[in-house]
Amino acid sequence: MREFEVQTAASMQDLGERIGRRCRPGDLIVLIGDLGSGKTTMVQGFGRALGVSEQITSPTFVIARVHVTDIGLPHLVHVDAYRLGSALEFDDLGLEADIAESITVVEWGEGKAEQLANDYLIVQISRADDGVDETRWVEISAVGDRWTVSDLDLIAGP
Ligand SMILES: Nc1ncnc2c1ncn2[C@@H]1O[C@H](COP(=O)(O)OP(=O)(O)O)[C@@H](O)[C@H]1O
Ligand SMILES: [Mg+2]
Repeated sequence: MREFEVQTAASMQDLGERIGRRCRPGDLIVLIGDLGSGKTTMVQGFGRALGVSEQITSPTFVIARVHVTDIGLPHLVHVDAYRLGSALEFDDLGLEADIAESITVVEWGEGKAEQLANDYLIVQISRADDGVDETRWVEISAVGDRWTVSDLDLIAGP
């Protein structure tokens, strides 16, 4: 587990970019955090790392969006599971994408997305509850063998 103090939205994107650079096809990242905690902001950094040129916004109403990257595959699949009542079934999303060839990131994925892969990264974002301080605390933990200590070290960055 790694913990990060993230003071601005730009630094949240930078952290997302560092995670995105370590990603490869088939990866799953589960994002946990309240509304406004910075989940979508982090995904914008993933997009930067993967060469997504379009703007990344919340897929709250469409549930999922596939972003084509500048090298074709892998695609970035961005899911908002908030309105899903049960476990997320990738096939039910009806996307022109395959989880094995994509990097899949699921907002509100806790308890819904974990069964999509054996190995995944859990990113939990929280903020001070005084409503004034914009600092976010980000905890990153790995489930399975895919994400090694050295991956996490590289995400922590210099
Ligand atoms: N330290 C920070 N980290 C992330 N977002 C921040 C931070 N400080 C301010 N913000 C702002 O908080 C909002 C987070 O929104 P968003 O990323 O859509 O959250 P979520 O997807 O978790 O609902 C954005 O408007 C962002 O600019
Ligand atoms: Mg969001």
